[in-house]
Amino acid sequence: MKRILTNQTIEKCGEEVKLSGWVHVRRNHGKIIFIDLRDKKGLIQVVFLPENNILYKLANSLRSEWVVEVIGKVNKRPGKMVNDKMITGEVEIKAKELKILNRAKTPPFEIAEEGKEINEELRLKYRYLDLRRQKLKNNIFIRHKVIRTIRRYMDKKGFIEAETPILTKSTPEGARDFLVPSRLHPGEFYALPQAPQQLKQLLMVAGIEKYFQIARCFRDEDLRGDRQPEFTQFDVEMSFIKQSDVMNLIEKLLLKIVKDLIVFDKTLSKKLTFNPFLKLDYNEAIKKYGTDKPDLRKDKKNPDELAFAWIVNWPLFEWNNEEKRYDSCHHVFTSPRKEDLNLLDTEPLKVRSLQYDLVLNGTEIGGGSIRIHKRMIQEKIFKLVGLKKEEIEEKFGHLLRAFEYGAPPHGGIALGIDRLLMLLLNEKSIREVILFPKTGDGKDLLMEAPSKVDPEQLKELNIKISS
Ligand code: AMO
Repeated sequence: MKRILTNQTIEKCGEEVKLSGWVHVRRNHGKIIFIDLRDKKGLIQVVFLPENNILYKLANSLRSEWVVEVIGKVNKRPGKMVNDKMITGEVEIKAKELKILNRAKTPPFEIAEEGKEINEELRLKYRYLDLRRQKLKNNIFIRHKVIRTIRRYMDKKGFIEAETPILTKSTPEGARDFLVPSRLHPGEFYALPQAPQQLKQLLMVAGIEKYFQIARCFRDEDLRGDRQPEFTQFDVEMSFIKQSDVMNLIEKLLLKIVKDLIVFDKTLSKKLTFNPFLKLDYNEAIKKYGTDKPDLRKDKKNPDELAFAWIVNWPLFEWNNEEKRYDSCHHVFTSPRKEDLNLLDTEPLKVRSLQYDLVLNGTEIGGGSIRIHKRMIQEKIFKLVGLKKEEIEEKFGHLLRAFEYGAPPHGGIALGIDRLLMLLLNEKSIREVILFPKTGDGKDLLMEAPSKVDPEQLKELNIKISS
């Protein structure tokens, strides 16, 4: 007999079926034993009656989280026994056979509970058990579906998904790099990408024209609820376009995601504050709300209200008083507005950029820009942010050279997938939408990383630990 999933039992009334999964809970009601059997789709109630003594005794030995296989008949539950809270609440399985596939120790926390009360360190250490909980599993399944929506949409729009390297050179986005020592080139290091920024721009020089990637990014920075050292961007770059082309593309996609979301999870209901999304000048946002990521919901406490807003007309630079130099408001590849180009030499702080950020309910979920595609302007920006000639060549020579070989005008954007999902799924932290997240101090408690390495390995890499 072929195994079916718990949610398929509803259509199999009167039939004999085979189910496999975990014992979610077991209840002894005098003469009857009930178990809720859990698989990836949810729960189903299985009933064991004392009329079959061997089976009944075996069922009596079951404990939470044991792995079992059950064969039995799907019966309609009597009217007053129907459970509205369960998808399969109208039926139950009358067990005929039970096989114990594996036993389990008592888990360090209740799988059947909501999870809010469980210590987070414990949850992360035993993430494979934490993921058994329906809420977290549901988040991960919806993450898959949202990414599938993105892929289908982008494919339809003529974009290709392309993988850029992970072992690469520093691609600065304002954080520290994670470095990887090279064994073959002692004393030299790769950097993990903070974003595929330069590589996607090089793809535009290569004539790819429409690129996207579900890209893993790495940033060694102080962590918060909406930051992880390793996170995922939906990264896009396009050639021969205007700012509005990128914004329209993303806006339509997000509307589709919100529409799909309530189909993916029928318990969610979302409403948009602005459709089309609001466009707000950077200066106006600061003046009116005192922040460049305002929460523009009508009801700030309502997680089901989605207030998407574009923040546009950013200044290109801000003044770094400590270092006495200009810093890019975003990254150094953002193009100044054409009409402000002459201010670069005289009043750089007055130069406006072609940057657009996307804000959702007070969180920045994405940012992008039209890029510089001419060597002369890019060099000027590098100098303004305090880079010396040799540094420019060493760090960005590849990009400047590429710009000399017919770089098309181009631009793009990246959305933080984790942040977007956190907000769509009404979660307080991005850790709730990531399979194996790190703690606030950057530790992977499950795998116990980072960890010390074998001295032999260090020797091979020509590395000495100084303290
Ligand atoms: P930016 O640095 O703004 O732009 O990043 C884009 C989006 O990525 C998400 N994000 C993060 N999510 C989780 N943890 C982090 N540590 C983290 N850092 C950033 C945010 C953010 O809005 N290359 C440019 C994009 C471009 O210009 O095309 C870039 O990376 O949601």
